[in-house]
Amino acid sequence: MKKILLITGPAGDAQGWGDLKVTEEIAKAIEASGKAAQIAFVSTMDEFYNAIETKEFDIVWSALYHISGKSETIGMGDGDEKWLADIFDDRKIPYIGPNAATMKALIHKTATHKIMHANGVPVPYHYQIEQGAALPDIVFPAFVKPGYESRSVGINDNSVVENRDALEKQVAFIHKEFDQPALVEEYLPGQEYTVLMLGNGKLQEFLPGRVEVDASLFGKYPILRADLRGVGATKIKPTNKYTKAAIEITRNAMEALNCLDHVRADMRLDAAGQLKIIEVNGIPGLKPVKSWSPQMFTMHHPSPEGPMEDYKQLIDHIVTSALTRYKLI
Ligand SMILES: Nc1ncnc2c1ncn2[C@@H]1O[C@H](COP(=O)(O)OP(=O)(O)OP(=O)(O)O)[C@@H](O)[C@H]1O
Ligand SMILES: [Mg+2]
Repeated sequence: MKKILLITGPAGDAQGWGDLKVTEEIAKAIEASGKAAQIAFVSTMDEFYNAIETKEFDIVWSALYHISGKSETIGMGDGDEKWLADIFDDRKIPYIGPNAATMKALIHKTATHKIMHANGVPVPYHYQIEQGAALPDIVFPAFVKPGYESRSVGINDNSVVENRDALEKQVAFIHKEFDQPALVEEYLPGQEYTVLMLGNGKLQEFLPGRVEVDASLFGKYPILRADLRGVGATKIKPTNKYTKAAIEITRNAMEALNCLDHVRADMRLDAAGQLKIIEVNGIPGLKPVKSWSPQMFTMHHPSPEGPMEDYKQLIDHIVTSALTRYKLI
């Protein structure tokens, strides 16, 4: 029986698929598919090394990009400290998800944009503003967000800026609040979509969804503010006429970024009605039934037994694709 070691820690929700409860649901789903799962909850690099050195497993699956003392934000880690995928690569440990270089490119939103743009994937115009740097001349409205975050951390109605004063204020807010560069982008006013890449090679599928939010929850702008995340405010719906375009740009993005196993691309329509990718998530949320991945899997592959059975199949698809790529099954 194949053994999967699930790694998480205090930052599992901020960085990865969700909190410890979500990790326990993933473990249950793995066991229900006839494989073994155990969880290592690690808060320090020593605890992490101890887990991979003492536990028995065939493959690792981590909710963490890097070990961090912060449980609310991600960031790029502490200086020279290795990321978990670096260590798996060094030690030739099989693991689920993209490699270390890709993980770093995905957290660094400007790096993601540059790789996508170089490969012909449509992205918004973007400027990464370091602390103390001059502001660029841009076309308004623009969108301002932290350079390295997730879960809409740092995003509210002030994120949309209509003039230079507002831009200056919001960039200063990001610098002060998050101690990281601010990312200034073209504001994409249209509908939001998300596409899941599931598995690799013959086991690969692209599952698209439109992100629907009850319009009464929006303030001045139709954006997913931090307070709308993780509270069941978003529902995944069919993509209809955008299906083909959404899948095509996602396929190109995933290839350009060398994504593996389970990765999600978020996108919106620009003012001219063209889809542009705003970011790519290396460890998408996996809260049963609620996160976008399980919602999209159920929308595309509903089983008579219901969403918890779909969840089990989603988890098994991810695990089986990764085991297959390492020739472990
Ligand atoms: N350029 C943009 N134009 C309009 N809205 C945007 C733009 N960038 C981000 N948003 C809004 O902010 C939300 C969060 O942004 P983004 O997806 O980049 O960050 P995230 O916090 O990393 O999200 P996730 O939790 O999906 O990892 C988006 O879902 C979208 O509603
Ligand atoms: Mg997103």
